[in-house]
Amino acid sequence: MRLYPRLGGAAALRLLLAAHVVAAFEPITVGIAIGAASALTGYLSYKDLYCRFAECCRSERPLNASALKQDLEEKLFGQHLATEVILKALTGFKNNKNPKKPLTLSLHGWAGTGKNFVSQIVAENLHPKGLKSNFVHLFVSTLHFPHEQHIKLYQDQLQRWIRGNVSACAGSVFIFDEMDKLHPGVIDAIKPFLDYYEQIDGVSYRKAIFIFLSNAGGDLITKTALDFWRAGRKREDIQLKDLEAVLSVGVFNNKHSGLWHSGLIDRNLIDYFIPFLPLEYRHVKMCVRAEMKARGSAIDEDIVTQVAEEMTFFPKDEKIYSDKGCKTVQSRLDFY
Ligand SMILES: Nc1ncnc2c1ncn2[C@@H]1O[C@H](COP(=O)(O)OP(=O)(O)OP(=O)(O)O)[C@@H](O)[C@H]1O
Ligand SMILES: [Mg+2]
Repeated sequence: MRLYPRLGGAAALRLLLAAHVVAAFEPITVGIAIGAASALTGYLSYKDLYCRFAECCRSERPLNASALKQDLEEKLFGQHLATEVILKALTGFKNNKNPKKPLTLSLHGWAGTGKNFVSQIVAENLHPKGLKSNFVHLFVSTLHFPHEQHIKLYQDQLQRWIRGNVSACAGSVFIFDEMDKLHPGVIDAIKPFLDYYEQIDGVSYRKAIFIFLSNAGGDLITKTALDFWRAGRKREDIQLKDLEAVLSVGVFNNKHSGLWHSGLIDRNLIDYFIPFLPLEYRHVKMCVRAEMKARGSAIDEDIVTQVAEEMTFFPKDEKIYSDKGCKTVQSRLDFY
């Protein structure tokens, strides 16, 4: 496959001529040859053709906002705030031809509420291969930066990794999972890349996207959601302003948030704090149905109810929110 992109005009011409010779013998082969030759000579540019066979970094490609919107609205349950902010943040950023800094999103919320799930959706909408793309990089604190005594090493490696990858693809995406388990020193290493610099050592980081995931602030989000519920107000009435400030201050003051007293917050380098609300019984049921559909099974409402009822809910008295969100739905469904 890799050979095709290297075929030059002369080779394409030869292919076209060869097609005429073969025409007398075998019509199907000829069709393929002409198709390939005409693609090579006229209809597709070298780059287009190359990108059909190898993954290309297309940082300038506009975001298909309606596809992202549809993905979020159809696949992500119970997260009206995250849906709204992510859509706004990404369309604004990708429509801006000259961003002044990279986009930084900080996703917060209780376990199993969709933070990794959303990162995957975002990644797929930016680079079609999603998390498997060469331009999307996922770091997990406990896996990639486990030892406190090696902070210096991690800082150097991370800086080199980010510099190399942004040089290769300006629109690279970096996802940092388990931020609340990350040593603050590690994130300090990437602070310069997130700032308002035109270039650092000849590399511009302004088109890159950084996504931080953590459970930090989950308690504050739950408290707000619960206050709304107890006041008889709808979950969908919770607005970003009810949570954003609480979240940034809470995360800044939380020693275990990964952003504790971090320059990222006091220098306003995080563009959006995105709250993930705790999921209710009805959302768990939606997750079960989605999983059944993904497995190609017919939706059996009895099983949906059984799986949802096996989950545990909090607070103790009201039992409104699933304490693992939708996280164990997939494994529980295996029993049926
Ligand atoms: N809001 C949601 N809408 C639809 N599916 C969801 C949602 N939340 C979770 N899920 C499902 O549950 C799985 C686990 O969720 P995910 O890994 O995104 O949780 P998380 O927020 O990253 O949790 P943790 O903080 O424990 O890492 C997802 O792969 C997805 O299938
Ligand atoms: Mg997660």
